Amino acid sequence: MPILNRIAEFHADMTAWRHDLHAHPELALQEKRTSAVVQAMLTEFGVDEVVTGLARTGVVGVIRGRGAHSGPGGRAIGLRADMDALPIEEATGLPYASKHPGVMHACGHDGHTTMLLGAARYLAETRNFDGTVYVIFQPAEENLAGGEIMVKEGLFERFPMQQVFGMHNWPTVQAGTFTWREGPVMAAVANIEITITGKGSHGAHPDHGIDPIVVSAQIVSAFQSIVARSVDPTESGVVTIGHINGGHTYNVIPETVEMKGTARWFQPAVGDKLEAGVRRLATGIAASFGATAEVVFDRAYPPTVNDAAATQMAVGAARTVAGDARVVPMKNPTMGGEDFAFMLNAKQGAYIMLGGGRGADDHMVHHPAYDFNDEILPVGASYWATLAEQLLPREG
Ligand code: NI
Repeated sequence: MPILNRIAEFHADMTAWRHDLHAHPELALQEKRTSAVVQAMLTEFGVDEVVTGLARTGVVGVIRGRGAHSGPGGRAIGLRADMDALPIEEATGLPYASKHPGVMHACGHDGHTTMLLGAARYLAETRNFDGTVYVIFQPAEENLAGGEIMVKEGLFERFPMQQVFGMHNWPTVQAGTFTWREGPVMAAVANIEITITGKGSHGAHPDHGIDPIVVSAQIVSAFQSIVARSVDPTESGVVTIGHINGGHTYNVIPETVEMKGTARWFQPAVGDKLEAGVRRLATGIAASFGATAEVVFDRAYPPTVNDAAATQMAVGAARTVAGDARVVPMKNPTMGGEDFAFMLNAKQGAYIMLGGGRGADDHMVHHPAYDFNDEILPVGASYWATLAEQLLPREG
């Protein structure tokens, strides 16, 4: 595949950067070391400006091209990577495994940061484009919406750009193959919290209490009917309860049970149906047993929706790098969530997937044995650089 030659030359460097980031993972909004490493490297590469402070640990590198469109008010695009890790105990056994107990780069954001650094090095060195490239390193993609914070703190006002692009590695797609989709690509996410309050009692005397564990069981069962019975069958939705906590021992009926879960959807009307169903069933079932349910349905991330024109720009660059056969449409969007959604709500852009799959033994992202595939570092970096050169072409 025609990876840019200059980028192929620093594949070994990129691998070393990635392993260093992997060994030092940091949780959302705590990416101090990662942010410092990114700043130091961008400075070393000779980018025009390194701007810090957005969303606490966020970094924006400014790289100006050559030509009439490269000044203030000219053409500009944003390329975005995420920097945060997950609260997972790493189980890869790799020599560069996490040195931070309970924290792990299990989603490949170490690779995302590295690919964008590789592109920044190339773009700062070659300047074979006419316009401005903003390389955006955002914190807190996982749960804490660092992308939303950057947008709220003025990312697109301080760095005016026409489009913004994102990319994620994907272990179930063959290494080096890009997949893309116009329209919805990742789902909207809500976090559900339910507290059921009954009345505690002796386990041998249930008639003296109201058992919140029995109530919680009815609620979990009833939730299975929300998508099946109230969502348009041609639409997609998920309601999952992932955590139940109540009681301590054999013979005591507890006073309360706490439940946590997630809801996912694409269409706003489906999100409304899921929320209404969760609230109605939890409170109604609790009330029918003489208990109460307090329900939080916190809409965390909107759906990630790709602009059609920007998607074709991304596809064009991907085809240049990987060849037509390795750039394939995604059949379906995924029900995973992604906070690049906030950037796409504010700015034209697109988010594509880069396969990292090696074979049948691959682990999915968020698995304790997952590791980003270093083979694709030059592919991703070449994609970023090619996208910049194609969207901001030099004349002549
Ligand atoms: Ni991720």
